[in-house]
Amino acid sequence: MSIENDLSLIQDYDKNYCLQVFKLLPVAFTKGKGCYLYDTEGRKYLDMIGGIAVNCLGYGHPKLSSAISKQAKDIIHACNYYYIPQKAELAYRLCRASFADKAFFCNSGAEANEAAIKLARSYFYYKDINKYEIITADMSFHGRTMGTVAATGQAKFSKPFEPGVPGFVHVPFNDIEALIEAVNPKTAAIMLELIQGESGVHPADKDYIIQVKKLCAEKGIILIFDEVQTGIGRTGKMFCYQNYGVVPDIMTLAKGLGGGVPIGAMLCTNEMATGMRPGDHGSTFGGNPLACTAGNTVLETIEDDGIIDNVKDVSDELFEKLNKLRSKYNCIRSVRGMGLLIGIEFDDTITAQGMREQLFSMGILVSAIGTSTIRLAPPLIISKAQAGQFIKALDKILKNVAGPKTVFGMIKDAIPSKKQIQDKASSVNNARIDKIDELGLLDDKPADPGISDDDK
Ligand SMILES: Cc1ncc(COP(=O)(O)O)c(C=O)c1O
Repeated sequence: MSIENDLSLIQDYDKNYCLQVFKLLPVAFTKGKGCYLYDTEGRKYLDMIGGIAVNCLGYGHPKLSSAISKQAKDIIHACNYYYIPQKAELAYRLCRASFADKAFFCNSGAEANEAAIKLARSYFYYKDINKYEIITADMSFHGRTMGTVAATGQAKFSKPFEPGVPGFVHVPFNDIEALIEAVNPKTAAIMLELIQGESGVHPADKDYIIQVKKLCAEKGIILIFDEVQTGIGRTGKMFCYQNYGVVPDIMTLAKGLGGGVPIGAMLCTNEMATGMRPGDHGSTFGGNPLACTAGNTVLETIEDDGIIDNVKDVSDELFEKLNKLRSKYNCIRSVRGMGLLIGIEFDDTITAQGMREQLFSMGILVSAIGTSTIRLAPPLIISKAQAGQFIKALDKILKNVAGPKTVFGMIKDAIPSKKQIQDKASSVNNARIDKIDELGLLDDKPADPGISDDDK
């Protein structure tokens, strides 16, 4: 039995058999090529969110596909009782490319942060020093495990699961005075995202990060950067801390590292590494040959194929064009971010959800954060022409928002009910095929699966 190409059957199965923890758009993708995805009907979408900053090499990248296919034939999993060459190589590559001396591998961003949190505590435990508190920022996001929801500075992620893990303190982001105030003799670590991705793409101020580093050095506090979203070329450097010129003691990675194959990593200095002994931490799947082959191929490809230069070029162009749109339309409140992690915030006349739906109806995928921001995190291989298609679509939508009541779902004081959103979403999917494709994105016939990337 295959349900692969029948959207309504997929939806039925999902509803009946999957835990309903995600709000889903009415679409399922069965194929991808470069920066495009194809749904069950063969319709083509420009992916401006890249699996939430994961698919850094896009879809079907020849080097990544062939490396993991070959590895799958050789050996997928060997456990951590034995040496794993791909793991050793990936650790070497990551340490060579960063401040770090040692790497630990796991399977997700949350697990990488769990490892960082445990290391920050065990480091002082083995020194017989009573420091265990970890300070993080309001509006941060560090994952969904019990430890990382406690670290996350947004109560909505931890409230239903109380009592939570103790020992976390949250302070306002980009506020050095608040941080200084929160530090006390029990403070073991300060853990920050350099760009708060999940809460709307808010970058840390450079001066703030410099002051944080100074504070950590003065007080003997461990500095942890959560680069799960910002790492692996996303911000125009291999790691975002390189944009700030500030080096942490511990850094966490996931998302882009495997180019779509699940992998997380915690990197640290040799000094930090004294805080873990054999048996203190581990993972059954972490560091497996398949995931590490993906990691090695992603890093090698980013380095060899000039992908970081592409990130910078496309980013410059996107920021320039978005800022032009901002001057043209008052409703764009701000354009934030770095490299190819960009947040576009709208004023009260436009909801992020409505904008996401409008773009979706034009065959463009973005994410909506909160009520007013859309986020872009496309594959790092995106071309300027493809980024230009997004700009053209956004321009077109904004041009059409003539008055407050013209575009359904885009007006905050007319936020539709859940049922209306679901009905609207399925009608959008059905109607989009009939739309006039001025952008050349919509195919009213199933796309040729072997279609070449003609928009480059
Ligand atoms: C900064 C940051 N840290 C941690 C996580 C959690 O990663 P994962 O979903 O892989 O556990 C995310 C996910 O969005 C993230 O953006």
